[in-house]
Amino acid sequence: MTSGGDAPGMNAAIRAVVRACSYYKVDCVGIYRGYQGMIEGDFTTLTARNVNNIIDKGGTILKTARSTEFRTAEGRKKAYNHLKKEGVDALVLIGGDGTFTGGMIFQKEFDIPCIGIPGTIDNDISGTNYTIGYDTALNTVVEVIDKIRDTASSHNRLFFVEVMGRDAGFLALNSGVGAGAEEILIPEEDMGLERLLESLKRSKRSGKSSSIVVVAEGDKTGKSVFELADYVEENLPEYEVRVSVLGHMQRGGSPSCFDRVLASRLGVKAVELLLDNKKNVMVGLINNRVQTTDLELAIKGNHTINKELLRVSDIMSI
Ligand code: F6P
Repeated sequence: MTSGGDAPGMNAAIRAVVRACSYYKVDCVGIYRGYQGMIEGDFTTLTARNVNNIIDKGGTILKTARSTEFRTAEGRKKAYNHLKKEGVDALVLIGGDGTFTGGMIFQKEFDIPCIGIPGTIDNDISGTNYTIGYDTALNTVVEVIDKIRDTASSHNRLFFVEVMGRDAGFLALNSGVGAGAEEILIPEEDMGLERLLESLKRSKRSGKSSSIVVVAEGDKTGKSVFELADYVEENLPEYEVRVSVLGHMQRGGSPSCFDRVLASRLGVKAVELLLDNKKNVMVGLINNRVQTTDLELAIKGNHTINKELLRVSDIMSI
């Protein structure tokens, strides 16, 4: 099943799990809409041919949801009963931290082996250098900022571009560096509004006529991107400011080759781990090798942003 926010490459992961099952002669059942579908018994049999031509498709053919009912003991009991009825004896969970947290609780209560596959554009999971969907989203964001730069420079404007990531700045930081943003505001680092103003004044003085500031959804300023834009316009009237909120388009689109390959490798390994009687772990890619991490560590571990990138960004925006 896929659960939580969708991410490009989830279909490639589904395909990999289904085909690996087929290869190892294991029956495979797809669960629609994540934990919600599990609670409602919304299942489908999946064979190798059911996943033809989906490797290039964004979204998830199994649909997804953020289930509040699964947070309750009654909801989980219903889900368990449906799994038993269907003869499901192990789960492959494709998603992010919410998905894995649900899996851990479920595994403790009902002893169903769970293997996690990290799929989220946020890249905020430990035990893998990359989550499925992150690379595609990054490229989408860079492509869009490149376009915003065209209009920003034509009008001599300052653009605040809001990028997804409630709790994590991977997408904002890397796309910001990749698109040559003047400043990048992320949840992990409190840059302070004064420093932002100083930096924008410096840019103006250095002869720049337009600028891009990338702001992660959950940045530390305590202001929304629109309030931030107003604040800068009030304090630096020399700037004409515009805001662009990229929103859910960042989660769509055909997955990059990197995400397709990652999803294929992790999907195969997930099935092999279950056949090897492993449970409660996540498969991830560390230094280009598929490795496993306890689900608990994957969620609670420290997948920190690369501070060197902040330094690089500072130097580049001179
Ligand atoms: O976790 C992925 C993500 O896209 C975050 O970056 C974002 O904050 C959140 O999901 C948005 O969730 P929803 O689509 O449920 O509003």
